[in-house]
Amino acid sequence: MVSHLAAAKPAQRKPSGIRAFWDSTIGKKIIMALTGLMFVAFLLVHMAGNLKIFFGPDDFNHYANWLRTIGEPVLHSSWFLWIQRTALIVGLVLHITTAVQLSRRDRRARPVRYVHSQRPQATFATRTMRWGGATLAVFIVWHILDLTLGVTNQDFRVDQPYHNITADFQVWWVNVIYIVALLMLGLHINHGFWSAARTLGIASPARDKALKAIGSILAVVITAGFIIVPVGVMTGLVG
Ligand code: HEM
Repeated sequence: MVSHLAAAKPAQRKPSGIRAFWDSTIGKKIIMALTGLMFVAFLLVHMAGNLKIFFGPDDFNHYANWLRTIGEPVLHSSWFLWIQRTALIVGLVLHITTAVQLSRRDRRARPVRYVHSQRPQATFATRTMRWGGATLAVFIVWHILDLTLGVTNQDFRVDQPYHNITADFQVWWVNVIYIVALLMLGLHINHGFWSAARTLGIASPARDKALKAIGSILAVVITAGFIIVPVGVMTGLVG
């Protein structure tokens, strides 16, 4: 009987390296950390580039146009842009999928909730990351519809990003959407950087203070660097 069953059911194979990595909690955390760091790098460059808006329409539009032609003539026009877009989309899908899966695992492992006062900091950070992350995902869709595709922008002109941004930030509620999302982004980076450092084994009692400070500085620089654009348009400094 036993031998019959053994014959009917093929011996379970051990998952391959990549599969085992994907299934493990630490593997998912590493994917979250690495994709998160990739976004921080993208955001630093995007934020710094946006500041060119303070040099006027010619400088800014020239820069924005260059973004579409990076890599030429080695690469065909827009190839780099599409490689970057693919990396960002794949990274975002991995980041969100692993976040949701880890969150489910966490809940399953802890069916009885902690008494609120036992881990207030951990639950606050976790909640902020979950809600903040969901808000940012919605914001990214809005942002692409708004400034890349021009669907929600009241006065969108193709290949004129300076005009599109300055027209956009004339509208008060658009500024509210951006500023709220950017503050969420700051909180997300502040805690996310620290989590990534711990996951990747960079954190240690000797380095914790410095790592937390780097996370906070990155969060403040990126948030302030982006927010200064709508504020610049609102105050008439730009436009
Ligand atoms: C004040 C804040 C921001 C401004 C003024 C701004 C401006 C822009 C503009 C003008 C574009 C379109 C570029 C083009 O198609 O020529 C763009 C694209 C994009 N932005 Fe932003 N951005 C801001 C914040 C953010 C934030 C916070 C994120 C991410 C969380 C972000 C992610 C992206 C992405 C993913 C694209 C699409 C790039 C592509 O089309 O391939 N941006 N942004």
